Amino acid sequence: MILDGKNISSQIKEELKKELLDIKNKTGLVPGFAIIMVGENPASKIYVNSKIKGCKEIGIECFPHFLPGDVSEEKLLETIDELNKDKKVDGMLVQLPLPKHIDENKVIQKIALEKDVDGFKPENLGLLFLGNKTSLKPCTPLGIMELLKKYSIELQGKDAVIIGRSNIVGKPMAGFFINAGATVTVCNSKTKNLKEKTKNADILVVAIGVAKFITEDMVKDGAVVIDVGINRTEEGLFGDVEFEGVSKKASYITPVPGGVGPMTVAMLFHNTVQAFKNNRKI
Ligand code: GUN
Repeated sequence: MILDGKNISSQIKEELKKELLDIKNKTGLVPGFAIIMVGENPASKIYVNSKIKGCKEIGIECFPHFLPGDVSEEKLLETIDELNKDKKVDGMLVQLPLPKHIDENKVIQKIALEKDVDGFKPENLGLLFLGNKTSLKPCTPLGIMELLKKYSIELQGKDAVIIGRSNIVGKPMAGFFINAGATVTVCNSKTKNLKEKTKNADILVVAIGVAKFITEDMVKDGAVVIDVGINRTEEGLFGDVEFEGVSKKASYITPVPGGVGPMTVAMLFHNTVQAFKNNRKI
């Protein structure tokens, strides 16, 4: 069965839109979201524009800031500081990757904790591991959790295997699964006997960035397979999972596109609304 991220993300956006209309009617307030993009990376531009468009549809006021690729780190940090102080801005993010002359960690650290709608700050990652309910959580793993919940897929007592140990996906995904009572294995590209590990997975999350990396022979019958990959190749766009073969064995599987990607964007709006409610005590 397909885990339809496109459809579920539309439902979530509709629910957020209704909730915001209700809050606006009662209080006159709308959430504000600032997005900073540095330079001209074409893939980033597509993502940023879809986030700006989504805000408009849902009823979030959007404040885009496009800075030139040669902007100084100091100027970028100053811009973040101004947005930190701006009461109309509930959430913000700086689109990654950044040019090499800018220190990404320094930039993320500059964002106020309560406005970190990417959930990238160390404090927010820590709060996630501790099971905090209202902290801001990284959008991709949060979107995966929402998708599993919508399809009533139980995690307690299950063997969950994650391939990829990034700060944005693998590590926070492990935190979510640990808190949900799963038994968690986090693999990476150097893991020994990887197939032995993936074959054992009831839930398999793949975020390794290699097109069609996971094949049918690596997956257990009836597994739930979540594909985080977006690989642009000459033959087209592919996930990290060889969909044709693996979908025959999986009980549930996310397609690429239309699986995890739209859920990630929906969670950014969810987090902005969460920050709005936290910050303004709604
Ligand atoms: N670049 C690719 N994905 C992301 C994301 O989730 N957040 C930010 N800030 N940049 C990204």
